[in-house]
Amino acid sequence: MISLCITGALGRMGQSLIKQAAIYNNTQITVGLIRQGHTSVGIPITTTDITYSDNIDAAFKEADLIIDFTTPDATLTFLDAAYQHKKPIVLGTTNLCKVHHTAIEKLSTVAPVIIEPNFALGMHVFFALMKQAAEALPQTFDTTIIETHHHHKKDAPSGTAKMLANQMQQFRHVDITSLRTGNNYGEHVVLFSNAGEHMTFAHKALSRDIFAQGALDASLWLVDKPPGQYAVKNILGLS
Ligand SMILES: NC(=O)c1ccc[n+]([C@@H]2O[C@H](COP(=O)([O-])OP(=O)(O)OC[C@H]3O[C@@H](n4cnc5c(N)ncnc54)[C@H](OP(=O)(O)O)[C@@H]3O)[C@@H](O)[C@H]2O)c1
Repeated sequence: MISLCITGALGRMGQSLIKQAAIYNNTQITVGLIRQGHTSVGIPITTTDITYSDNIDAAFKEADLIIDFTTPDATLTFLDAAYQHKKPIVLGTTNLCKVHHTAIEKLSTVAPVIIEPNFALGMHVFFALMKQAAEALPQTFDTTIIETHHHHKKDAPSGTAKMLANQMQQFRHVDITSLRTGNNYGEHVVLFSNAGEHMTFAHKALSRDIFAQGALDASLWLVDKPPGQYAVKNILGLS
């Protein structure tokens, strides 16, 4: 049984993680961390016997592993706390920049870290297939990613679209179009088109819970790994 600290516990992903952890046999939430001074501090967390907390130091001391789906600013604070307490972290927050990657490098010298813009396991096979297509197709094919997410999503393009593009850009130019509409949990479509042929590949998340399940699976895999930086492709045995 591993004890988890969920940061941003009142957020969309935080709530999904709490719900999913309750139906996993070998995970237990010991801290649901929320913004300091939030009115929900001390209120019971449904499906657990604990209350929401804003005490970062106590949270990081207590938990075996941290799962973070919050904002880039908050993530920086949590990376620093994870370093102080030498705690593994599963990191799902997107729109991170150089300062985060420096902090992740530092943390990975004392604890294992997984950072992924998309914890849906199927997406990692999709990444591998799109990289293969980008390498194999002639340059006559225009390449476009169209990503669609719910209208609350703060960043665009999505972290997933940026990672897809990054992998394909070593072989060809890639354009990205972002749509923010309705309640879409995350859809990534890759188009390859030239004058004579058109190909469409798509991955669609049908529920937010799929990201939470992927993060919990990653947590169970990561918790006893040596310090270092890991990715979901390592769990799946993809290169
Ligand atoms: N990797 C993946 O598979 C994946 C999947 C889905 C989403 N995401 C990413 O995960 C992140 C969160 O998404 P979401 O839809 O759950 O967003 P959300 O509903 O806005 O939740 C974010 C939560 O973080 C909390 N928070 C912000 N600063 C905090 C702090 N300093 N201390 C404690 N809590 C803090 C917010 O609290 P307040 O309301 O008090 O500000 C909010 O409850 C985004 O970056 C999103 O792109 C990644």
